[in-house]
Amino acid sequence: MKKCILLLWLLVILAVSQAFSQQDHPFFPAKRLVTTGIYYYPEHWDPHLWERDIKRMSEMGFEFVHLAEFAWSKMEPEEGRFDFTWLDTVMDLCTKYHLKVVLCTPSATPPAWIRYQYPETFQMNSQYIRGEHGTRGLGSVASPVYRRLVETIVTKMAQRYGKHENVIGWQLDNEPDAKPDFSPASQEAFRQWLKNKYHSIDALNTIWGNAFWSQWYNSFDQVLIPNVNLVGWWGSNPHAMLDFKRYMADIQAEYLDFQSRTLRANISEHQFITTNYTAVSPGADPRRTKQLDFATYTAYPNGGTHNIGQQGFRLGNSNVILFAAEYYKSVGGVTGAMEIQPGTVNWGNFTPLPLPGTVRMWLYHIFAAGGKLACSYRFRQINYGAEQYHSGIMETDGVTPSPGGYDYMQFMKEMNVLRKEADIKAPLPEKLARRSTAILWNLENYWSFDQQRQTRQWDSWNYPIKFLQIAKSFGAPVDVIAETADLSKYNVVIIPAYELVDSSLIKKWETYAANGGQLIITCRTATKNRDGYLWEKGWAAPLSALTGARITTFDMLPDQYYGDVQTKAGHYRWNNWGDLLQPDKNTEALATYNDQFYKGAAAVVKRRVGKGTVTYIGVDTDDAKLEKDVLRDIYTGTGATTENYPPGVLVYWRDGFYVAVNYSSDNYTMNMSGTTKILIGEKTIKPGGVLVWKE
Ligand code: GAL
Repeated sequence: MKKCILLLWLLVILAVSQAFSQQDHPFFPAKRLVTTGIYYYPEHWDPHLWERDIKRMSEMGFEFVHLAEFAWSKMEPEEGRFDFTWLDTVMDLCTKYHLKVVLCTPSATPPAWIRYQYPETFQMNSQYIRGEHGTRGLGSVASPVYRRLVETIVTKMAQRYGKHENVIGWQLDNEPDAKPDFSPASQEAFRQWLKNKYHSIDALNTIWGNAFWSQWYNSFDQVLIPNVNLVGWWGSNPHAMLDFKRYMADIQAEYLDFQSRTLRANISEHQFITTNYTAVSPGADPRRTKQLDFATYTAYPNGGTHNIGQQGFRLGNSNVILFAAEYYKSVGGVTGAMEIQPGTVNWGNFTPLPLPGTVRMWLYHIFAAGGKLACSYRFRQINYGAEQYHSGIMETDGVTPSPGGYDYMQFMKEMNVLRKEADIKAPLPEKLARRSTAILWNLENYWSFDQQRQTRQWDSWNYPIKFLQIAKSFGAPVDVIAETADLSKYNVVIIPAYELVDSSLIKKWETYAANGGQLIITCRTATKNRDGYLWEKGWAAPLSALTGARITTFDMLPDQYYGDVQTKAGHYRWNNWGDLLQPDKNTEALATYNDQFYKGAAAVVKRRVGKGTVTYIGVDTDDAKLEKDVLRDIYTGTGATTENYPPGVLVYWRDGFYVAVNYSSDNYTMNMSGTTKILIGEKTIKPGGVLVWKE
């Protein structure tokens, strides 16, 4: 029996090791580790500078150049008249200086002739005012005319460069964001989306709860996009809003797929297709696309916000890359940063200088988390236009590297060292495999919560990230996964505030636990069905059998007032959210409320389910101490060891290396064994510093 258990354990570790270890990828040879690139806009500069710049990029160590983004008016100055001669020249220079190319479709910036000839191709805002020419991202993805124009330019580009040996891939559009579009084309597309979903108007009336406030429709023709700005947030129909968000994400994804199909008809299979989502993308849902080879993200950690400690405002928000690097992997298995902040930006709340070395730390963070590419916006700081104040890798003179430019050069030099030291076949170390963790998250839950937060203390975007931070502080490898993912690969699965569920999803969770997994579910999970309805049988009723507890009701406290929760280990403060739990007889109460009129009610419960366990955390605290202690016991209960890294110290493993970055404002000394070999950095990591080592 003991032998069987040992064998089972080894098999699990083997599966986990493989899941987390770097595997060769058709577009990214494993031994290259990470490919570096830089955005270049030749159309911004006098042609006589092109060779100087491209030669310089190559000398600095960049491996690819990102071209043609936003250059529609240069490639198609008038409808049907195309000019690629300038781009040909630049492409030839890239070949000459051994730089690969990522080409970008220019659809984010339709030229003035489109606004003039086809005004209907622009989005409308919620006041029904048409977007104007002069910025970007205002084309209506629902407009068939706009799509025809996009199809033409994308086809021309693909025909010209789709077989070009130096082109490694394509980026579609720029930061797709599923912006609400109230134009007639979008209204029509929304009605069509609803018809496909509901078939009859009465089915829609029922699901949207249109009996409420006389919202009943007689036909689909009467349906307009729900307009929060005109009805007031409190008056908006949550079911209609949820469908509108779904529709926007669907049409955005389908538009990207349409561009992918257009490209694919003409490009070589060796060229990848991706797009660059913003790291925090609350509207566009990358998982809805079907044609992308993988998704990348744009990382701007420092927009003038306070972060960890005194120097946090210079080091940036550690959550940006932390979350994006895992979330975007859930699309095509790999990801990377298509844009990394090169220094100060032009759009921050304020724009502090980054602490020296910060850009390098961000680069290492992307690398550490398994990133396959690390590219930066942009080569040279521009001396005119809307982004004048945005730094580049080069200063405004075009020849002097900026501090971020020096950081880049150092990173690229160090990568050459690490490429020699890498062990791309190394399996994930066993101590890490035992901590393997998944966090289940999707945008639908975010959309649903964010319109009904119930307390301003509920941070819909950052709530799942809180658990990612906790797991990382234990030194766990963590994936952010979708519902369809295979849970059996993970020792711990965390389900943070997963509001919209159905019975088959809950069954899947139960099976995972029954087979030996450690399942952690938190407050606000399963409180609604997929249509956004509360359950008649009670709060989060379908969850009760799994958690072994009933949620009798829930409470929340004012910002400055804290309630007390007690566990065997001590007392904790909470005020954001508290479910009052009534455990069944085989369920253990790990924490109880220690004050308020409901003193004694359970706040955290745990029970055994088959070979595993299910823990329900009903409380959301500000400092996450309670959640952290509960989670730590679960990890150690399975025999896993846990680290105790402070906030901002993030440690990863890839290709045989441990990589640590320090976003905190204090030095951190890594605890290392005698057999450790330091490759980059020092044992004591300064704020903004990095450390790479082998054990
Ligand atoms: C990104 C965008 C870039 C550039 C940059 C400035 O969001 O994709 O094109 O505008 O911001 O920080």
